[in-house]
Amino acid sequence: MNKMRVAVFASGSGTNLQAIIDAQIETVQIAVVFTNKSDAYALERAKEHNIPILVIDHKEYDSREEYDADIIKALEPYNLDLIVLAGYMRILSPVFVRAYKGKIINIHPALLPSFPGINSGRQALQYGVKYTGVTVHFVDEGVDTGPIILQSIVEIEDGDTEETLLQKIHIVEHQIYPKALELVSSGKIEVNGRRVIKKS
Ligand code: GRF
Repeated sequence: MNKMRVAVFASGSGTNLQAIIDAQIETVQIAVVFTNKSDAYALERAKEHNIPILVIDHKEYDSREEYDADIIKALEPYNLDLIVLAGYMRILSPVFVRAYKGKIINIHPALLPSFPGINSGRQALQYGVKYTGVTVHFVDEGVDTGPIILQSIVEIEDGDTEETLLQKIHIVEHQIYPKALELVSSGKIEVNGRRVIKKS
């Protein structure tokens, strides 16, 4: 089985990374976990599974472009096929997006194009929508604008707070990110303009 060499980028607790590890996708090898934060709990999860880690602190850089150029250099030896953003809390500069054109995916805790950017749960509650959800999409040069691979719905109930909503969203994320990664890594889908469709 041909495995895609994947880097997972995470800045925080890494529960999505964990879901991807646990899914043991046949067509995926996690070659490295990258973070901008040396105290990200995601690193502990990687170490536990003997996955190489790479830490580059963005605070040591003056510009996003210089930072991203250094990440590109540091990732070269890993021969990556795909970058999986899983709670990576930095916007990628065009320098990075162009280097891995069409080879970056992200998970967003809302039904895009609604509520892009940060605090999507809060945005959904404030707007008063009855349903929100999760989107996995390819990354282009915009913020949360790339072609959509998978989406799943989460109902907002009257008693929901930002915290309970995010808990529900997380459960769905852990189901659909491995599914989307399986689709991408096994070559079962193709991008046709804005649409991501199953290959016939
Ligand atoms: C997730 O909600 C994801 O949608 C967003 O950041 C969060 C990361 O959570 N981009 P975790 O670190 O995977 O637990």
